[in-house]
Amino acid sequence: MYCQEMLLLACLLLLLGGQPPLTSTTTTTTLVAAMTIANQDLERYFRPANATHSYTSIGEERLTMDFYNFAFLNWSYVDSQNIIREIEFSEEKARYGEGRVLNVTGRLIHISTADDISDDFACTPYIRGTLGMPLPEKGVSWIALVRRGRCTFEDKVKHVHQYNAAGVIIYNDKQVMQLEKMQIKNKNRNIAAVITYQAIGLELASTVDKGINVTISIIEGRRGVRSVSSLNRTSVLFVSISFIVLMIISLVWLIFYYIQRFRYMQAKDQQSRNLCSVTKKAIMKIPTKTGKMTDEKDMDSDCCAICIESYKPADIIRILPCKHEFHKNCIDPWLIEHRTCPMCKLDVLKFYGYVVGDQIYQTPSPQHNAPSAAATTAAAAAAAAATTTTATATGRVS
Ligand SMILES: *[C@@H]1O[C@H](CO)[C@@H](O)[C@H](O)[C@H]1NC(C)=O
Ligand SMILES: *[C@@H]1O[C@H](CO)[C@@H](O)[C@H](O)[C@H]1NC(C)=O
Ligand SMILES: *[C@@H]1O[C@H](CO)[C@@H](O)[C@H](O)[C@H]1NC(C)=O
Ligand SMILES: *[C@@H]1O[C@H](CO)[C@@H](O)[C@H](O)[C@H]1NC(C)=O
Repeated sequence: MYCQEMLLLACLLLLLGGQPPLTSTTTTTTLVAAMTIANQDLERYFRPANATHSYTSIGEERLTMDFYNFAFLNWSYVDSQNIIREIEFSEEKARYGEGRVLNVTGRLIHISTADDISDDFACTPYIRGTLGMPLPEKGVSWIALVRRGRCTFEDKVKHVHQYNAAGVIIYNDKQVMQLEKMQIKNKNRNIAAVITYQAIGLELASTVDKGINVTISIIEGRRGVRSVSSLNRTSVLFVSISFIVLMIISLVWLIFYYIQRFRYMQAKDQQSRNLCSVTKKAIMKIPTKTGKMTDEKDMDSDCCAICIESYKPADIIRILPCKHEFHKNCIDPWLIEHRTCPMCKLDVLKFYGYVVGDQIYQTPSPQHNAPSAAATTAAAAAAAAATTTTATATGRVS
């Protein structure tokens, strides 16, 4: 039994592959979502790599490789007590974009625009120096401080480069855990472009805005190649989501199947119990007699067809409505199981009107009342005859 269930489960799982109407919607959405992630990743790693590094690897490897290059930011200024303050970080706090990797030192300029001194996005070509002051003349090494956002990194770098900035520090407009790589296409510009954290950018901006001259250095730090597992992660994610969806669908199917099956079994059980009780009632109506009348010459009915034993005078014999006779002990279990005469297949329940069509009645159905009443009277008559025969039989025996 258990084995059979397991087989069924296996079949069900196999069948699920070919069950489009129920499963298609969920599966499709998953597919689309997963593909979107994959596309983003692909786009990121298929970008023209010649802007990043001259030593490009073979096309395939670009998918899983990420070139990184971090930068130190050290700065110094003279504070109000005429003390030189130097700020150095023990680890890199900035990351180069995809342009050139250069070491530069210069005066820090917090970018503003001609219209708005608080606009430090450098998204227009009309940029000014700290708090709207003019930018340093050509020949002075200066580094621009620009806020991230509103336009592309490419535009920001282009705008500060046209005023001969040696470098540009773009600071994040929100807090991030990791520095992303800026995409800057033109690697021939002689400018060091790095991105840094929001906190550092704001600190620099507030220092410069106080009118303090800050000298800052961008120094090349760690560099390397890291294999990127996000593509692998995507496929793993896709596979696991598909698997989970499949599991859920099969589970739902299994539960559905077992509920159906349970209900069917219950209905069947109820029906067979009904049938059993009705059959018992019907059997009560079938007349019996005792012994076999010796004057009956019918040799066929001389022995019980079920146990193949001849009737003895003391045996209780049941006479079915079709006039076939059997031992009561033999025919009763048979009738409870089969409900028909073993010889001519006459349906006892139908005869007495307990079953009409597929309907089972606890009492004989109305349209069968008349014939069954007749049968009852006939049975009563037979019973009377039986008692007389019993009387005679016993009389004879005694
Ligand atoms: C910048 O900081 C690094 C790390 O502390 C240090 O090695 C380097 O000499 C500093 N450079 C300047 C110009 O201060
Ligand atoms: C920048 O400076 C560091 C330390 O002084 C040095 O190791 C590195 O090679 C320099 N990078 C470039 C591109 O000059
Ligand atoms: C990358 O290289 C190709 C061919 O070498 C060139 O056509 C393309 O313009 C380059 N892209 C960038 C952004 O420099
Ligand atoms: C900052 O540097 C500029 C140009 O070198 C100079 O004119 C200005 O006086 C300096 N400001 C301070 C506060 O040292």
